Amino acid sequence: MKRFESQLKTSLVVTICLLLIGCDQMAGESKAPSASEMPPAETVSKSVNKPADPITFVDFEIGNGLPPMKVPADNPITPEKIALGKKLFFDTVLSVDNSMSCATCHDPEQGWGNGEKFAEGASGIRGKRNVLTIMNAGFYKYLFWDGRVKTLEEQALVPVYEPTEMGMKSESELIKRIGENDEYKTLFTEAFDDGITAANIAKSLATFQRTIYVKETPYDRYVAGDKTAMSKSAIRGEKVFFNRRKANCGSCHPAPMFTDQRPYNIGIGMDASEPDWGFHHTKGWAFWGKFRSPSLRGIDQTAPYMHDGSLATLEEVVDYYDRGGIDHEYTDVAIQNVGLTRMSERDKKDLVAFLREGLREIKDGE
Ligand code: HEC
Ligand code: HEC
Repeated sequence: MKRFESQLKTSLVVTICLLLIGCDQMAGESKAPSASEMPPAETVSKSVNKPADPITFVDFEIGNGLPPMKVPADNPITPEKIALGKKLFFDTVLSVDNSMSCATCHDPEQGWGNGEKFAEGASGIRGKRNVLTIMNAGFYKYLFWDGRVKTLEEQALVPVYEPTEMGMKSESELIKRIGENDEYKTLFTEAFDDGITAANIAKSLATFQRTIYVKETPYDRYVAGDKTAMSKSAIRGEKVFFNRRKANCGSCHPAPMFTDQRPYNIGIGMDASEPDWGFHHTKGWAFWGKFRSPSLRGIDQTAPYMHDGSLATLEEVVDYYDRGGIDHEYTDVAIQNVGLTRMSERDKKDLVAFLREGLREIKDGE
């Protein structure tokens, strides 16, 4: 029995690793550290060695008070690529048995996530990370909960080849399948000089995803001068959100994107028997259990929350922070401070109103 358990555990870890990481850096690290293996938090160096970045980016101006999007210079946004990328995103041709598309897990009806704690891959084995929405993904400097990928181009084909996700065996198989469809032949010829290639599939998927972001929120209108754009409760909630002596959410989730894109360990999942290592996989001990601070624009649409999907509602999120999170040696001090000044029941209600109503997406024509 024991043997079976440990085999099951190993195969689960390997599968999760394949599903999520892609996964060279995890090889040989398939076990969570025991307490004795972990250096004490205070001895861990905070320095980061940033590798040189060979990709050249060009600013794509968005307007509406939002920062420009950084788009790789060799993949400018064009209407042809958007149209092609959209078709690919919703097409099950990208999975080996025609069973799933990107939208199976990134469903526009579910805020471009899947509305569940975890995702079921083609093999039916559950991953251990919550599906990230692709909304606002074009604004991030690095992708995934643990920031292990730099561009949407680099990310796009990861799930396609994962045995536990879309399971495509090879590049040639992928290109052959897409080439069998005449409509794709035309769309690729219109979008690119060199037709159907794996790089062009990635480029068009990336381009389509850059168009999926929360363009306008009641908060944006409020800041631009429309004082009726948010309810009284949401206006009070905004003050709680940014107040350094109260919730201080703005320190890690600053406007207008409501993310500073930095990694933190806010204690989520730290009480698990084998916590998720987060950024540690690529950056070392100083980053153990840290995850990227996500954008909160459109946050009303993407429950459940956090990398492990452990918080079901925005009320639960606010309660979590108010308690000071799950205490752990590696947890960031900033999050412990959120709990130091308790919020009143009204503060919490108003804060939820701000997140839910103030940061929701205003639909076209509203
Ligand atoms: C089986 C479910 C599943 C399928 C199918 C899937 N994804 Fe994902 N996606 C996930 C999960 C889970 C994550 C979060 C993984 C992590 O952070 O480690 C994710 C993360 C992402 C992110 C990162 C977003 C961010 O803010 O960093 C992008 C972009 C993305 N997926 C695009 C795609 C594309 C494009 C496809 C189709 C080619 C696709 N996904 C297919 C489950 C899926
Ligand atoms: C120390 C930095 C920090 C502070 C302060 C902070 N957050 Fe976060 N927030 C994060 C990080 C990092 C995550 C992702 C954590 C994870 O999944 O492990 C997160 C996740 C979230 C999520 C879930 C997002 C999703 O897509 O699942 C919400 C909602 C949220 N924070 C709201 C708030 C609110 C409200 C406050 C103030 C009460 C706040 N945050 C304060 C860093 C911070």
